[in-house]
Amino acid sequence: MGAKIRSYQPGEERALYDICLLTGDSGEDASGLYQDPLLVGEVYVGPYLRFAPAHAWVGVDAAGVAGYVLGVPDTPAFETWCEQAWWPALRARYPQSSFRAGSPDDRIVRLIHGPPTASPDVVERYPAHLHIDLLPRIQGQGVGRGLMTTLLAGLAAAGAPGVHLGVSKANQRAIGFYRRMGFTDVHTYTDSLVMARVL
Ligand SMILES: CC(C)(COP(=O)(O)OP(=O)(O)OC[C@H]1O[C@@H](n2cnc3c(N)ncnc32)[C@H](O)[C@@H]1OP(=O)(O)O)[C@@H](O)C(=O)NCCC(=O)NCCS
Repeated sequence: MGAKIRSYQPGEERALYDICLLTGDSGEDASGLYQDPLLVGEVYVGPYLRFAPAHAWVGVDAAGVAGYVLGVPDTPAFETWCEQAWWPALRARYPQSSFRAGSPDDRIVRLIHGPPTASPDVVERYPAHLHIDLLPRIQGQGVGRGLMTTLLAGLAAAGAPGVHLGVSKANQRAIGFYRRMGFTDVHTYTDSLVMARVL
């Protein structure tokens, strides 16, 4: 059976956290890198499901949920909400020195205590942003395109004129996919790119 695309349903949080970890090393399995298996999902999945569940879509095959796309139409509003409603509990649960300095877990804890904000020039033209991750078993079958098309239609309907995303330069596969989906580079950093497209 081919994978189907549908809305995220409450109760699927842990499945999405797991997919985030299993694709969290520039698209490859990051589960061997982190001591805490929930940490990356607490940053890249949890707040999106809570803040904008209407913009959460999943790819499902016979074995279950195997991919997702998550987005928010208004990144500054999302960042403000995270400061008020998401980061405080995580900062209490993961104090600054929870993990060995410089370790992958420690880098995520630093993000929790000092999350970067999207740059104003990007947000002005491309206020929405997104994350997309599929397990290997449903990659390369058009599910990424389907999830992306579905999300972008919803973000446009919510009034966003453009959308951006961040991607590691090590993840050349994803960069090729995003270019095919109409994204172009808007910022280049040492290890990562910000890509964007109008809606
Ligand atoms: C990157 C990812 C989302 C792409 O999804 P996918 O389902 O594998 O991609 P699709 O099969 O839907 O491909 C969609 C289109 O992009 C094209 N494409 C995919 N990868 C490409 C690449 N590296 N270079 C050029 N084109 C590419 C496909 O040929 C296809 O073209 P078409 O629809 O016009 O025929 C998916 O592979 C993935 O989740 N990888 C692991 C996690 C990850 O890296 N996430 C991104 C983190 S920033």
